[in-house]
Amino acid sequence: MCGIIAYTGDERAAPILLEGLKRLEYRGYDSAGILTIDENSEFELKKDVGKVLEIDQKLNFLDLEGDSGLAHTRWATHGGVTRSNAHPHISNNGKIAAIHNGIVENYKELRSKLISEGFTFCSETDTEVVPNLVEYWIEKRGLDFLHAVLNTFQSLEGNFALVLIDRDSKMIVGAKNGSPLVLGVGKNKFFLASDIPAFLDRTKDVVYLYDGDTVILHPERRYEIIDYRTGKVVQRPIQSVSWDIEHAAKGEFDHFMLKEISEQVETIQKASAQDREVIEDITQRIRRARGVFLIGCGSSFHACLSASYLFSKLASFHINAVLASEFSAYEDFLKEDTLVIAVTQSGETIDVLDAIKTAKQKGCQVVSIVNVMGSSATQFADASIFLNAGPEVSVLSTKTYTAQLTVLTLLAYSLAGKYEEGQRELKYLWNIVYNITAASMRNRIKDLADRLSKVEHIFVLGRGPLYATALEAALKIKEVSYIHAEAFAGGELKHGPISLIGKGTPCIVFVSKDTERHIISNAMEVKSRGGYLIGIGPTPLDTFDFFIKVPESDELNPICQIIPIQILAYQLAVILGHDPDRPRNLAKSVTVR
Ligand code: F6R
Repeated sequence: MCGIIAYTGDERAAPILLEGLKRLEYRGYDSAGILTIDENSEFELKKDVGKVLEIDQKLNFLDLEGDSGLAHTRWATHGGVTRSNAHPHISNNGKIAAIHNGIVENYKELRSKLISEGFTFCSETDTEVVPNLVEYWIEKRGLDFLHAVLNTFQSLEGNFALVLIDRDSKMIVGAKNGSPLVLGVGKNKFFLASDIPAFLDRTKDVVYLYDGDTVILHPERRYEIIDYRTGKVVQRPIQSVSWDIEHAAKGEFDHFMLKEISEQVETIQKASAQDREVIEDITQRIRRARGVFLIGCGSSFHACLSASYLFSKLASFHINAVLASEFSAYEDFLKEDTLVIAVTQSGETIDVLDAIKTAKQKGCQVVSIVNVMGSSATQFADASIFLNAGPEVSVLSTKTYTAQLTVLTLLAYSLAGKYEEGQRELKYLWNIVYNITAASMRNRIKDLADRLSKVEHIFVLGRGPLYATALEAALKIKEVSYIHAEAFAGGELKHGPISLIGKGTPCIVFVSKDTERHIISNAMEVKSRGGYLIGIGPTPLDTFDFFIKVPESDELNPICQIIPIQILAYQLAVILGHDPDRPRNLAKSVTVR
């Protein structure tokens, strides 16, 4: 998704904005640009399609002069991947520039209105109406920059995070409505960005913004926040971020994905170290509710599905795991005593936010399980549990997926009245995860990756909660290696998919003590048709052509067993020459429907 960073302060803007863009790259993008205001109050702009580094080599961003500016990474939605569609966009009179994440849904109507007023457009984007509307309010209606911006924000429909800069006043104004925007406050310097890592090397003091919040950065180095919907001043606390830039840097690893896979030794423990009162409060909300939905998208949905088995088995509690993008089909069942638990690492996925809003309109209670503090999901929810996994920079969910499973497992134990037992079990996991993520295991999995890198299809089988693991494994493999991978519940194989199995077809099989008897007979069905079997579980079997040992961890198997496949997916990407941190067409937080 698009990434935004704006800066004003005592230092030159270009190096800070360029660094910020590099730190926002993980969000996924296809073009980028930087605009500054120089000492003659002129805009200096460089933008193009491609990677930040490539554009920088071609255009040299560091040439841009001035101590204030805007920068943007664009993930195309309205209009193709072209230079003219890249941000920042400048108004007709050349005085106002804007960067934007989100969608202006009524842009066609606004554009027609501006065209009838004599405005022209040089891009196909929805964004370009924004600086021109501001110009309209200034030039044709006599407002000052700030009031013109407020009027403009009021006329926009859709989700957006927008930042504008005015050449004349040098004022920067940014607002959020449904898309992420956070304010960084340093000594004589201020930042507005989509995400904290964009400026974390400059300040750890942040203000989490809420929908409607409009930050005004005055050129004399002060800020104020008002709500553009009411015009009233808003007070928000400055909070200090507990992690530092090293957490958002690759360190000794070649890629963030591998770093984040390796971090799971710690992050699973951090996710389990929850405040007992918070877990108890959510447990009571689950007990009191009549009908509980667990909702999420992609990997987060797989965590929900896995947890639905666990809640049933461990706590005899029925819970509905539903894809957030399909949640509207269940609207009629939502009552005031329904509880919706939204699982989302970013807290910004639009399908999840839509589902949360529907639930709130129906009077339901909403709990969010989130990694990013201050994110929209936490702002809408009645209560939240944080994953505490630190920033996840690789587009693929790895450490946040196991952190979600950890929190959901803890809730299931708590619901079963076995909170301490759950904590104990999760502690024992440390040793297992340490061994699975060790270099020796990575080398072993590399041999498998070498073989699988040549295949076109990989199938994955699991039963019970390990069916959810199979779905997650297939997603990890396909999204980063681009090899087709598909998961089936073991019992479903004979109902159709078995026709796909031929000589040498690779099939990964997740095995646990509970499911062993049945899944092994499914594996035999594959083997007898010439399939190549990769077993993951506690015991090697003769039928397996390749075996990865993961000690039996009972209810915690889904947390451990996915890790070897995260490693496999990573190694497949590297062997095949793909960037594991930035798979094609994918974005870290999906803010479009
Ligand atoms: C897969 C992946 C995605 C996300 C999905 C939901 O590796 O990362 O499938 O899980 O886009 O994102 P969140 O959890 O931010 O709502």
